[in-house]
Amino acid sequence: MPYVKRVRLSEVLDGRGDPTVAATVTTDDGVEATALAPSGRSTGRHEAVEVRDGESEWYNGRGLRHHLAQVEPEISEALEGSRLDISRVDEALIQLDGTANKSRLGANVTSAISLAVAKAAARADGVSLYHYLNPLARTLPVPQMNLINGGRHAYNATPVQEFIVMPVKAGDFAEALSWTMRIYHALSQMVKQRYGHHALNTGDEGGLTPDVPSLAAGLDLLSEAVKNAGLAGGVRYGLDMAATHLYDVNTQQYTIDRAYTREELFAMYADIVEHRQVVSIEDPVEEDDFEGLAQLTRRLKAQWVGDDLFVTNPARVRRAIQMGAGNALLWKFNQIGTLSEAWTAADVARRHGYEIVVSERSGDTEDPAIADLAVALGASQIKTGAPVRGERTAKYNRLLAIQRELGTLGRYAGQDLMERYG
Ligand code: PGA
Ligand code: ZN
Repeated sequence: MPYVKRVRLSEVLDGRGDPTVAATVTTDDGVEATALAPSGRSTGRHEAVEVRDGESEWYNGRGLRHHLAQVEPEISEALEGSRLDISRVDEALIQLDGTANKSRLGANVTSAISLAVAKAAARADGVSLYHYLNPLARTLPVPQMNLINGGRHAYNATPVQEFIVMPVKAGDFAEALSWTMRIYHALSQMVKQRYGHHALNTGDEGGLTPDVPSLAAGLDLLSEAVKNAGLAGGVRYGLDMAATHLYDVNTQQYTIDRAYTREELFAMYADIVEHRQVVSIEDPVEEDDFEGLAQLTRRLKAQWVGDDLFVTNPARVRRAIQMGAGNALLWKFNQIGTLSEAWTAADVARRHGYEIVVSERSGDTEDPAIADLAVALGASQIKTGAPVRGERTAKYNRLLAIQRELGTLGRYAGQDLMERYG
């Protein structure tokens, strides 16, 4: 097995123009690989944290150049001579960081290094990243395509963060992608007529940005677009409520078009699950309400996804399992800061029947690696935005390449998902 020779860290930009980390790992036999860390904006309180310089004249405090210059020698020295083995390197990073939330080195730094090591190991073996991580990988995920952006991802008056279409009945991944763009164009026409051309500007994840005040208004728009595209029956719907950001701790209510008590919110979920073909709801309650999530999971047959609630953290996933809270894990490896820990979270979740939804961040980069990670994990879904921005198409184009590479061995997850939640 090759050895790590050197780790270099540099400041590059994410899709919002904010600085992020590029890590380059070089091995003793000259293999080199680079990975970029993505960055969230609608982050959970329990995530591992990013480190930034706070120097106001450099990217308004979002820069990292001083931090990277400071930790690079220390990390490079600590990892030099270590075997090119993901779990060993991750363990060394965790020890070196020494905090519970990666706040010394920064989860942006550890995530980029962890992924760069995985890429270097695959390259040293001469295989694709997904194949290196799981030679038996065969599943192409259903895209959870976020077509209307709101909340912290858009400058509009839409309180709900993501209105999603899921092309579950497509024959394969490539067809799923073509369906979603047909829907996107149908939706664009409607949005232009009803909300004016400004609403065609895209949010952070590539979705359109009409002002939709309520769940019903957004779901009406989507289902009409699906019908206009001639795809009624072929898709199902999803939401990311990102409810933490709608919640007021003092009143204990959620504000959408008006304030809702938790019971009123649950009644609305019951209505859309039963009458509007909504099969997946992410973060339906605020990030510490495991009990509320457990109630929903018991009461309504749908996919209940934990993002800010679970933060890809094995301990929080175990707690959710004990309480029967949710049945799907939103998987973002930079929420915990290393691939190994994120892998454990997925293993624990899957062993208890949870779906895995591999996810982008709203400030993502041109690094396509989550496409490989989704396939390697056998994830039934991937959430990586609308395919109209480069940092999103990077992932979709990589999935198209993987579908071609797998050929007849590949299997699109749509059918299975329909059987479980359709
Ligand atoms: P973030 O949000 O990347 O801005 O944290 C994405 C999500 O909530 O799924
Ligand atoms: Zn989310």
